[in-house]
Amino acid sequence: MALLDQQIAEYVERFTSPHDPLLAELSEETARELGSTSMLTGPVAGRFLELLVWGAQPRRVLEIGTFSGHSALAMAAALPEGGHIDTCEVDPRRAAFAQRYFDRSPHGSKITLHLGPALETIERLEGTFDFVFIDAEKEGYVGYYEAVLPRLAERGLIFADNTLAGGRVVGGTPPIVAFNEHVAADPRTVQVILSVRDGMTLIRRASSRTPPSWV
Ligand SMILES: C[S@@+](CC[C@H](N)C(=O)[O-])C[C@H]1O[C@@H](n2cnc3c(N)ncnc32)[C@H](O)[C@@H]1O
Repeated sequence: MALLDQQIAEYVERFTSPHDPLLAELSEETARELGSTSMLTGPVAGRFLELLVWGAQPRRVLEIGTFSGHSALAMAAALPEGGHIDTCEVDPRRAAFAQRYFDRSPHGSKITLHLGPALETIERLEGTFDFVFIDAEKEGYVGYYEAVLPRLAERGLIFADNTLAGGRVVGGTPPIVAFNEHVAADPRTVQVILSVRDGMTLIRRASSRTPPSWV
């Protein structure tokens, strides 16, 4: 089930800044070579990610789930000077595909691709993260959230994709329901689910030092 009426979805895409040519090429080649195009963030969600990164100006970004590299490149274009993305991918074919596009992009040198299970990569990486994009297998979301929350910078953001699971969350069945319930019940964080594309949740720490004062 699509969250948005098809005509509205087309309208949204038409009035969103179009794809960067390299990302358009990447999307076409992804469809031809890898299939699974539903995994791509696409032009609207990709642009949204880019704008979030533009506003938040994170120096350290962690992406969990690279696929063909679309979202990593969208974010890389908006990073501040000295900003860097660590992106995690378990599938060697997808990782090689993404790296090929990173190598072609003027922003590719800001991205380090880590091949292997994301939880192991996160454990190996040092320091805190300013922006985390969770977009790997849905059964792993609670584990990823728990792994990154203690490492989130005080004004950091976690952004999780597909949190409405095509609307199926209302029936209460898919694994993403457990994630949504876990986050909603967590007093350490404040979150909003946005009905962008397949649902995207934005999460921050509920810090007493950060306004507003009622959370
Ligand atoms: C939805 S796709 C990511 C899409 C990408 N962020 C984009 O917008 O173009 C999810 C990816 O996570 C990868 N993945 C699944 N489980 C993983 C794990 N445990 N560690 C790292 N990557 C994983 C899959 O192979 C897949 O390529």
